[in-house]
Amino acid sequence: MENTFKEKFYGRRKGRTLSTGQLDLLQSALEKNAIHLPIDSKFLNIQELFQQPYDHYNLEIGFGSGEHLITQAKNNPSTGFIGVEVFLNGLVNCVQQMHAFRLNNIRLYPDDVRPLLRGISDESLDQIFILFPDPWPKARHHKRRLINPENLKIFARLLKLGGKLRIASDDVSYLEWIEDIFQKQHDFLLIKRYTKRPPDWPSTRYEQKALKKGRVCHYFIFQRLP
Ligand SMILES: C[S@@+](CC[C@H](N)C(=O)[O-])C[C@H]1O[C@@H](n2cnc3c(N)ncnc32)[C@H](O)[C@@H]1O
Repeated sequence: MENTFKEKFYGRRKGRTLSTGQLDLLQSALEKNAIHLPIDSKFLNIQELFQQPYDHYNLEIGFGSGEHLITQAKNNPSTGFIGVEVFLNGLVNCVQQMHAFRLNNIRLYPDDVRPLLRGISDESLDQIFILFPDPWPKARHHKRRLINPENLKIFARLLKLGGKLRIASDDVSYLEWIEDIFQKQHDFLLIKRYTKRPPDWPSTRYEQKALKKGRVCHYFIFQRLP
């Protein structure tokens, strides 16, 4: 599926200046591991992105510096992971860790996730992780939120039946928004909601910052219904 996506991206793509060494590492990692949307076929075949078949396929959207993605990939060698992040400095951190731990079960999409979501075929994923999505607190910016009714429909399409959608947030207004939009849909069932991170759920940088500020983090596990 050709990328004809035209919607504006509002987040930050770059932070502090990267060294030549970091840029070289990023470039070579992306040459090996980046996902390109196909021009000639309608949908991406997830299995074909990897050098070997995996038992499961998980997607993390907005992985930040990649702490959760890297730990998940280390702990689950029979799962293929797709990591998506637009923030260059976060991507560099992630590829450094991939390199250090010689992880072959991660593929990266270094751009706005939205065209990728439209390009993945139905029922290909076992889990989707969206951890501490940008809160966009002003009411007029709520439409930029990653968790929204339109994207929930897409997540439902991409997940296998019984697949899981894991979401975390510490933002009171976003938590209310999540409660509201999930109440109005029929594709997902809330299985668990925690205020203490479950053991199989690796921590992230953003979570650590939130906890240091004394904020309460909420962790949701939703299941894709038939
Ligand atoms: C608040 S940060 C949280 C990062 C990480 N998940 C954590 O918990 O530390 C949200 C991240 O989502 C990324 N992001 C936001 N919108 C995105 C999009 N449309 N496509 C890809 N990444 C996105 C941002 O670049 C940012 O790194």
